[in-house]
Amino acid sequence: MRGNEGNPEVKGIILAGGTGSRLYPTTVAVSKQLLPVGNKPMIYYPMSVLLLAGVRDILVIGRPTEIPRFQELFGDGSHLGISVSYAEQAEPRGIADALLIGADHVAGDPVALILGDNIFHGHHFSSTLQEATRDPHGCVLFGYPVPDPERYGVCETDADGRVVSLEEKPRHPRSNRAVTGLYVYDHEAVDIAKNLRPSARGELEITDVNRHYADRGRARLVDLGRGFAWMDTGTPESFLQADLYIRALEDRQGVRIACLEEVALRMGFIDIDQCHRLGAERSGSAYGKYLLSLAL
Ligand code: G1P
Repeated sequence: MRGNEGNPEVKGIILAGGTGSRLYPTTVAVSKQLLPVGNKPMIYYPMSVLLLAGVRDILVIGRPTEIPRFQELFGDGSHLGISVSYAEQAEPRGIADALLIGADHVAGDPVALILGDNIFHGHHFSSTLQEATRDPHGCVLFGYPVPDPERYGVCETDADGRVVSLEEKPRHPRSNRAVTGLYVYDHEAVDIAKNLRPSARGELEITDVNRHYADRGRARLVDLGRGFAWMDTGTPESFLQADLYIRALEDRQGVRIACLEEVALRMGFIDIDQCHRLGAERSGSAYGKYLLSLAL
């Protein structure tokens, strides 16, 4: 993990709404993003991505019944040296709806929006993120090769990485590059979202926001290629795969992935004494012991 060269002006949004319908009945009483992946709540992973990007002002959007759970988990974020606030999404109305719900939070700044069920892991990801958020002109998307692109937003780029076509769940995909659930935008994204019309499935599609940028030659794609892991946890099978992947790496390397306290420490958001305090509060758990080992 490198140091912090992130852009402190960038606001963060985690969209942790949705019904988790494909994980029924596990998700009836608890939101998908609170289920454990590798012994920590799923939402830790997207939260760690924002922290690694240097983003410190983060809005968590969730189902009204789940907001108190997320508040229990993160509080106001001050123990991590960040600010976390919360907003309700009563009905799932599409990913771009997060930009409308978060309009006051974004307040004319650039924004990094991430889906609460997307897990990213790979070498040097923090520098990739900090580079993308440093001076976002237009939008930055992150592409990943998949065998089943028809399940995702799909894009094509020119030789310079500029996005030339974007389609949402196309029946006949033009490429195998899925657009992952992490979107970095300049200050225009909220206004673009305000002018969207709902798609045929009645949602405000993030792909339409991205296409708005792409049509003006202002959308860039960063390829997360071989050696990088991007996982979504939409189905029981992909959920299990993500869990096994995280556990295998953590066991083998003796490190923790998406340990928020560790990320906050490395990013300079908290100091070593605070990391020690947080570990001491939870010293009965392996997680707490790990924090203590960092603070030695
Ligand atoms: C959404 C987006 C899609 C993107 C995917 C990433 O799809 O609409 O463009 O590729 O997230 O996880 P959903 O998961 O809502 O079907």
